[in-house]
Amino acid sequence: MIDALSLLHGLPFLVGVGYLTYLFLWRCFLSQLTKLPGPKLAALTYWYECYYGTLYPPMSRQNQDLSEYADIVQPAQYAFKIKRLHSEYGPVVRIGPNDVSISDLDFIDTIYAPGPGHRRDKNAKHSRSLGISSSIGGSITHELHRNRREALNPFFSPQRIHRLDPDLASKAAQVENIFADARESGQVLNLSDIYFAFCNDVVHKYCFGSDPNLLGNLHLASARRNNVFSVLGSVKIMFHFNWIRKLLQRLPGGGTGAHGMMIFRRRIRAQIDEVLARDPFSDEEPSIFTHLRDSTELPAAEKSAKRLEDEAVLMTMAGTYSPMLSLMVAHYHLLSRSDIMAKLRTELGGARGPVMPRTAAELERLPYLSAIAQEAHRLTFGLTGRNTRVCPDEPILYNDKERGQTYTFPPGTSLSVSTLVIHTDESLFPDPWTFDPDRWVPSTSASDATDMRRRRSMLSFMRGPRVCIGRHLANAEIAVLLAVMARWDMELFKTDQDDVEFKHDYHVMCPKLGSKGVRVEVKDRWNA
Ligand code: HEM
Repeated sequence: MIDALSLLHGLPFLVGVGYLTYLFLWRCFLSQLTKLPGPKLAALTYWYECYYGTLYPPMSRQNQDLSEYADIVQPAQYAFKIKRLHSEYGPVVRIGPNDVSISDLDFIDTIYAPGPGHRRDKNAKHSRSLGISSSIGGSITHELHRNRREALNPFFSPQRIHRLDPDLASKAAQVENIFADARESGQVLNLSDIYFAFCNDVVHKYCFGSDPNLLGNLHLASARRNNVFSVLGSVKIMFHFNWIRKLLQRLPGGGTGAHGMMIFRRRIRAQIDEVLARDPFSDEEPSIFTHLRDSTELPAAEKSAKRLEDEAVLMTMAGTYSPMLSLMVAHYHLLSRSDIMAKLRTELGGARGPVMPRTAAELERLPYLSAIAQEAHRLTFGLTGRNTRVCPDEPILYNDKERGQTYTFPPGTSLSVSTLVIHTDESLFPDPWTFDPDRWVPSTSASDATDMRRRRSMLSFMRGPRVCIGRHLANAEIAVLLAVMARWDMELFKTDQDDVEFKHDYHVMCPKLGSKGVRVEVKDRWNA
């Protein structure tokens, strides 16, 4: 009897040990992925990624002097570790028990844009870390994503975005007024807050039909920018310890986890409730969310307040923070490199004429202006976290030409390409950390083939069916604001390269921790 009881008590322990033994054997010896190059520890356990993803000191640049960081624990470094692993192991590296990173430009389409008839899902573990699983970006399966995307597509064609010209012009004029006031008062401006507010106002109006005018309250813009950053700052912890999110959700007043996210979501939910409460037959301004609310194509579940809340959180967060990063990077380099600013001004010619002399589409066609935007996107790295794809129903083969080896990734393997690795590939981008728009000016020195390879390597907006839906809007915003930047002489204030360079991966790039953003003193309106 006693023996039977102690056996019963020991059963959970035995089951646990059995399960761990099975995991160990499967991950290290039995899975088809065991033949792949990579550190054994990464193959065995996600704690490897957790260590580099949440704690490890930074290695953002190959020859960086780490001693300056020796006394600080630095988080969010797995992207940099993956780059090192590729230098050590080659183009294919097993970076997790079920995760493979590939650094081959010619294989990007196989993962992200395989063409009709091939399904690519997302990895559920990765998608949950932002807590917006019922948004388009959180859709795991290929089919669910396609349905949600079809509902949104009409709002994001280039033609539709051109209709926003008046809104962009009026917001750009507001930015210029802020610059003009600062020139008079001598007040130091935080460009990161200004660009955050600009992008927020534009995307918010597109989503909900009303202008929140964050540009009119830069203190609030600063608080909101920090708030979004605190949301992003929790991404790595939520990825590895999803139970924290679940626990917080159960707490009174708990939303999805981080305090910042709770505040952010509450505000967005209020907007959604307001849209749903409005009379659909009133003469309200049509917007993305009135369109989704009134859609006859979408089933009722897709129009629930909770689902629309997730969609709106993604739309406003992605539509604000990512373009702000590219704008910050671009303006910093225009101010620190007078040669680049001079070329832009030459191209714009009469840029100091009346506010907004040209449309976004016309500006985007200027080769040097668009080269600056492209270079800013390159060094902002789009999504810096692992943007994984899973093929649910067929194995994928990879032929490593250098080693003469073919690898098979069974269905369900989580595959990704790192934007850090590709955007800093020295064969495509010599001296990759230098901001050099001339790389994108057609055929300066490179052959057409190299030029095309370089363009194909740009992953800022990703590609395939899940390519950034807001890319035309982002490029229009950036074009309009580059023209504004050219019209003002400014000096950087207590701001250096560390304030705009990729140092930490919080899903998007984060410069040095504690950075206050790009700050400037406005000197004068530029005189040609
Ligand atoms: C420079 C600015 C931007 C960058 C670098 C950027 C980058 C990206 C990337 C890499 C993705 C693909 C994510 C994935 O594979 O899951 C994406 C998706 C998305 N982006 Fe952007 N984005 C930018 C601007 C915008 C803007 C202005 C909006 C909003 C209007 C927006 C809304 C979205 C949405 C809704 C998705 C999900 C699309 C889908 O899953 O089909 N983005 N973005």
